[in-house]
Amino acid sequence: MADEIVSVNEFQVLARQALPKMYYDFYAGGAEDEHTLKKNVQEFQRIILQPRVLVDVSSIAMSTNILGYTISAPIMIAPTAMHKLAHPEGELATARAAAACNTIMILSFSASASVEEVASSCNAVQFFQLYVYKRRDIAVNLVQRAEKSGYKAIVLTSDTPRLGRREADIKNKMIVPQLKNLEGLMSTAVASDKGSNLEAYANETMDPSLSWRDIAWLKSITNLPILIKGILTREDATKAMEVGAAGIIVSNHGGRQLDYTPATISVLEEVVQAVGRKVPVLLDGGVRRGTDVFKALALGAQAVLVGRPVIYGLAAKGEAGVRKVMHMLKDELELTMALAGYRSSRILKLHSSIVSDHPM
Ligand code: FNR
Repeated sequence: MADEIVSVNEFQVLARQALPKMYYDFYAGGAEDEHTLKKNVQEFQRIILQPRVLVDVSSIAMSTNILGYTISAPIMIAPTAMHKLAHPEGELATARAAAACNTIMILSFSASASVEEVASSCNAVQFFQLYVYKRRDIAVNLVQRAEKSGYKAIVLTSDTPRLGRREADIKNKMIVPQLKNLEGLMSTAVASDKGSNLEAYANETMDPSLSWRDIAWLKSITNLPILIKGILTREDATKAMEVGAAGIIVSNHGGRQLDYTPATISVLEEVVQAVGRKVPVLLDGGVRRGTDVFKALALGAQAVLVGRPVIYGLAAKGEAGVRKVMHMLKDELELTMALAGYRSSRILKLHSSIVSDHPM
């Protein structure tokens, strides 16, 4: 029973039981030594809270605003590939859960349901995540379809000129299924002698020449605001401002791309300082507790995105599992705010004095 689950991490155990090893490893794994994958979680755990007491917390305001859209809590759904490998209803179930929780789902380019299907499955505010392939007509096609279907923003993933080396996928001979958004445009079938064809497929398709100059091109094909996902330094945050990004997502792709990058929570403050208050800064990577969300807000994030826990919820319990994951994080955040003496996520934002680094 979903009701017996009391923390988000328990869903990982259930997902492991529910999924074939190949798929579980694909979702759970990271690049190479998985150093960054682990650090994303561990660095949250180093941060200690310094609560204030005797604050009236009889009512807590959790909602926030992202690019003009109000969401019930500062917790959104990160773009992750191929939800139908986790559950037959795939992204449609995830999108319905996002709608029920009144949050924003970012649909992955590599989804197992099409932009149109997901858009019409519910009335949630949705953003579309874009990879840019060498065949630029594919980006044009998908961005225009997303815009026409009612997506409110494009999230350009910037950390994937090539695919990170995910050794579990190679060992398991993980194969890319046909990506739904690409049906009629191209096939994902690529021969590989490396076990998995993920790396070969990505290296054949992804455009490694994509650069800051191309943001002008992307802007020329859409009227939607463009967020840049995968920023980890103040230098790149500044560049993102210069090219007119509407938002920044501090992300290391959940430790799946370049290993030994810092945990996202460790670089959040630096990025927020570079951006000032010009555009929202979001963060993903390792968010597993309401206290993690609280820490990210205190260090300047407007909201966080959650990747793997959503997939684990989906694998274990379908739409209800995703709802449960999102509700648990929201409830934990609310409790954390009450116990720490903050009644509004807006007041909390940038109150970095409430968190302190605790060397282990
Ligand atoms: C991802 N991520 C990702 N990012 C993206 O921009 N496009 C994508 O298609 C995917 N696909 C994907 C698949 C899987 C299985 C995972 C785990 C991750 C990265 C994702 O958006 C996000 O950055 C991380 O998942 C955040 O870390 P946590 O929450 O999983 O720790």
